[in-house]
Amino acid sequence: MIHVGTEIINTDRLILRRFTLDDVDKLYKNWANDSDVVKFMRMNPHINVDDTKEFVESIINKYDKLDTYRWIIILKVIDEPIGFIGLTTISEYDMTADFGYSIGKPFWNKGYTTEALIAVLSYGLQVIGFNRLEAYHSINNMPSGKVMKKSGMTYEGRARQKYKSNLGFEDCDMYSIIKKDID
Ligand SMILES: CC(C)(COP(=O)(O)OP(=O)(O)OC[C@H]1O[C@@H](n2cnc3c(N)ncnc32)[C@H](O)[C@@H]1OP(=O)(O)O)[C@@H](O)C(=O)NCCC(=O)NCCS
Repeated sequence: MIHVGTEIINTDRLILRRFTLDDVDKLYKNWANDSDVVKFMRMNPHINVDDTKEFVESIINKYDKLDTYRWIIILKVIDEPIGFIGLTTISEYDMTADFGYSIGKPFWNKGYTTEALIAVLSYGLQVIGFNRLEAYHSINNMPSGKVMKKSGMTYEGRARQKYKSNLGFEDCDMYSIIKKDID
């Protein structure tokens, strides 16, 4: 595999690119301040822009680690950030990564996350050269499962109390896509 770090990805309606400090105010407004968007995640909603600045800085500081990919999602029509998507290498030897995503509530149910994920899966398998990309979502977060299915991933089963979100232990549905699926 050749790790290239977080490079720009263009889709019809979105630009996926590196976070910058100029994104902080809009990211806070469009995404980070809402408790609903972190419901199935581990992070807390941001109380003020300083929280978002700290979050963005922690991501920027990791950009020299080329096997970790963190894109901010820019909605072209408003030229503002609406959320993020990222890939994290789990095993270099097994050529496997997992991923996560989250976007602001005003932008839900418009197909944006599916559009971003399709692009990131293709980038992960074809540009970086992962063999397998996997993810899971709480069984109570059906929209996330829809996104995975619509992006061409395959359901692999249910894992009991796979992780602990802000709500407690979550049973999760597991999905994957492998290189062979898109060849
Ligand atoms: C999960 C999340 C990323 C989905 O993003 P999105 O941009 O709204 O996703 P899309 O518009 O591409 O697809 C959402 C699908 O879920 C469906 N959906 C919405 N609410 C639903 C519900 N209560 N039950 C079942 N399906 C639902 C939508 O109809 C749509 O499917 P369709 O295109 O077949 O109609 C977004 O809700 C989010 O950021 N949530 C908070 C963070 C989070 O949960 N991250 C994932 C952690 S695993």
